[in-house]
Amino acid sequence: MTGRERFIAAVEGKPVDRPPVWLMRQAGRYLPEYRALRERYTFSEMYRRPDLATEVTLQPIRRFGFDGAILFSDILVVPEAMGIPVDFPNGGPVLSKTVRTRADVDALIGSDPRESLGFVRDALVSLRKELGSETALLGFSGAPYTLACYAVDGTSEHDFIETKKLEWKDPAAFEALLDKLTDFIAEYLVMQVEAGADVVQLFDSWGGHMSPAQWRRYGLPRAKRIFDRVKAAGGRTIHFVLDSGPFLESVAEAGSDVVGIDWHVPFEDAVRRVGGTKTLQGNLEPYMLMGATDAVVENTRALVEAGRGARGHILNVGHGVTPHTRIECVQALLDTVRGMAR
Ligand code: CP3
Repeated sequence: MTGRERFIAAVEGKPVDRPPVWLMRQAGRYLPEYRALRERYTFSEMYRRPDLATEVTLQPIRRFGFDGAILFSDILVVPEAMGIPVDFPNGGPVLSKTVRTRADVDALIGSDPRESLGFVRDALVSLRKELGSETALLGFSGAPYTLACYAVDGTSEHDFIETKKLEWKDPAAFEALLDKLTDFIAEYLVMQVEAGADVVQLFDSWGGHMSPAQWRRYGLPRAKRIFDRVKAAGGRTIHFVLDSGPFLESVAEAGSDVVGIDWHVPFEDAVRRVGGTKTLQGNLEPYMLMGATDAVVENTRALVEAGRGARGHILNVGHGVTPHTRIECVQALLDTVRGMAR
């Protein structure tokens, strides 16, 4: 099986020789070849230029041969395309405008992603050619709630306190914002499928800031709309909601093919709760990859075993890898999974 065949089979719940592997944030600062390129270009130049985005996406594939390659980009290109300039000074992102009233929501541009984010389409088309049938190509978008957090607060430095205020002071304005983001995101992911993405992932990194009841009101219906639209266009989907352990069944209800499991949930529990009908993705503790290789081997073995109980399993970390990740640990992870093929 090629990596691409293995990946697609796992997404669809079909038999595989071993779980496919990719890592959230697999391209980036823990790789010396990334840091070398990054000395010459800013982060935003790197994701805006299709040649550079292609190169950075391929770096971890060349080094490790992951089964899936995720487009090098950022979730914040969406608010950027809707009229909120984003900057990445050292540390977290900063948005130059905030959306805190109904008038602010109405002022957002509901542009066609084919025009405003054409550089993402071009990078995917170039990657599809480079990867051929060897490696699966993954696209992604931030989820409406997570992008709303950035749009309302403008930064992640204050625990999204303004977002929480808006949710409770003016829920109608907040829902109008979520709806505007939802329509754009759905179109954006369809564009990615058309450009050659085999699978697209919806990242709800701050979804765990919602209570289960808020998730049902703000998150679930919009995630459903997005997945319905992507499926109608022939796309395959992964849904990752960080810190969603308390309402995992409801995350599965949104209708993606794959449910991402964060590292706080025991994988056996996830298999029992939603693994009967969904392929699961996850969920090694990302910080483990900063430590000793022995622990990586041991925990990876246990995870592969646990994953055999689910409809399908895509091996990954349970949140993005850090810049302190050790190359040796990533290699040990891959060697272990490959050694368990049958
Ligand atoms: O996974 C990959 O390899 C693909 C690339 C990718 C990046 N960001 C590159 C990046 C993906 C899928 C993302 C998604 C993303 N971006 C999320 C969702 C996933 C998650 O981790 O929860 C979020 C919340 C963001 C927003 C964002 N972008 C933050 C908070 C930061 C700063 C913190 C950090 O990790 O550096 C960024 C910048 C960013 N995005 C970098 C990279 C490689 C660092 C840029 C640099 O200085 O080189």
